[in-house]
Amino acid sequence: MSQKVRPIAGDARWFEEARFGIFIHWGLYSILARGEWVRYTEKIPKQEYALLANKFKPEKFNIENWVKLAKESGMKYMVLTTKHHDGFCLFDSKVSNFTSVKTAAKRDFVAEYIRACRKYKMKVGLYFSLADLNCPAYLNGPCKNPKEWKRFIAYVHNQVRELLTNYGKIDILWYDGGWVLSSWGNFSSAEIWQSRKLYYNIVKKLQPHILINSRSGIPGDFDTPEQRIVPSTSGRLWETCMTMNDHWGYHAGDKNWKSTKQLIINLVRCVSTGGNFLLNVGPKADGTIPATSIKRLKEIGNWMKKNRESIYGIKGSSFYSFYRDVSFGWSPRVTTKGNIAYLHVFYWLGRELCISRFKNKVKSANFLASGKKVEVTQKNDRLFIKNLPDKEPDPYDTVIALKLEEELK
Ligand code: GLC
Repeated sequence: MSQKVRPIAGDARWFEEARFGIFIHWGLYSILARGEWVRYTEKIPKQEYALLANKFKPEKFNIENWVKLAKESGMKYMVLTTKHHDGFCLFDSKVSNFTSVKTAAKRDFVAEYIRACRKYKMKVGLYFSLADLNCPAYLNGPCKNPKEWKRFIAYVHNQVRELLTNYGKIDILWYDGGWVLSSWGNFSSAEIWQSRKLYYNIVKKLQPHILINSRSGIPGDFDTPEQRIVPSTSGRLWETCMTMNDHWGYHAGDKNWKSTKQLIINLVRCVSTGGNFLLNVGPKADGTIPATSIKRLKEIGNWMKKNRESIYGIKGSSFYSFYRDVSFGWSPRVTTKGNIAYLHVFYWLGRELCISRFKNKVKSANFLASGKKVEVTQKNDRLFIKNLPDKEPDPYDTVIALKLEEELK
C-alpha cells in the first residue's frame, strides 16, 4: 500500500480541477489493427515490423479534429503515446531512426499535437514507454551486457530529454513500461531505469511544473490504476485510465464497447472518490478515430455540457464512504463543491428517492441540467426527494443539485 506522500513537486491544482482527460494510443501497430501489443504477442521480427513504417502515412490525420473532439467531450487534458513499447517514435528523435519523421510520414506528430493542444487550451500530456522492444539491448536486459545496457539507458534518458526540451511547456509525463522482467534479477524499477537521476537531472530541470506518474518506479505525482477504479487511501492524486472496448490501440475485431452510460458512470465513480478519469481512444492508422468512439465522446460531451459543474473542481467526498468499494452499482453517487452536493442518479425509478445518513440541512434543490426545482423533505438523517417524474430526465445520469447550509458532512 502506498504511504502518505505529498506530490513530490509540480503544479497539481489544475490536474485536480480537470478531472477528465483523453488518452490516445496511436502508432505503427494501428496499421495491423490488432492492438498495441501486436509486435510482442505475434513475435513479429524487427525487420518485418520496421516495414510498417513505410506504410505509415496517415492521410486523414488532422490533430485539430482530435483535440476539438476531446474538448467538446468535456475533457481538459490529453495524453498521447509518443513512443509505445514497439519503440516507434511519433516525434523527431535524434537518437533513433525509427521515427515518423525519418520514415514515410515525414512528420513530427508530437509537435503537431502539442501545437493543437495549446491552440485549444488543452493541457499537454506525453505518454512515453521506457520499455523498447525495438532495442536488442532492452531484450537482452541489464546483466548480459552491462555496457550495452548503459548505452540503452542513456538512449532512453536522451529521448525524455528531447521530449521535454524541444516542444515548450509540457504538463504531464506519463511513463509506462517501467517494469522489471523476472529474468533481469533482483532490481527495483527505479534502479533499472535510473529514475531518480532521470527525474532530478533531466525532467525537473527542464520542466519544473510537470506532473509525472508513478510508473517509473518513483512515487511521482500521481498513481494510474489501469481499467479499475481504485481510490487513493493516502491522499495521493490518482487517475484511472480506461479503454472504451478491450484494447488501447486500434483493434478491428474488438466490438466489446462499453456503453456511454457505463462510461459516464465510471467518470462519476472516479470523481466522487477523488480521482481523475483518462478515457482512451485508439485511432486507426489513417488518422481517423473509430466512429463508435466518436459517438460515445459526443454523447458524453452533451451530458457534460449540462452537468459539468458536478465534475470539474470536485473534491473527493467522504460521504457514503462505503461507496469507495466502487464495484457496486450504488446510486446516487455524490460529488460536492462548496455548499452544493450533486446527486448522480444512474438508476431512475421516478416518484421518490431516499438518501440516508444525510446530516446537512438542505436549503433548496433542483435538477442541474434544467434548473427545475425539486421538492425535498428531511426526517432525521433521511433525505427524501419527492414528486419526481416517471420518465428519467437524463437516461445516463440525472444530476440533482442540493444547496446546503454548509459544506457536506
Ligand atoms: C499497459 C500496457 C499498455 C498501455 C498501458 C495504458 O501497461 O502495456 O499497452 O499503454 O498500460 O495504461
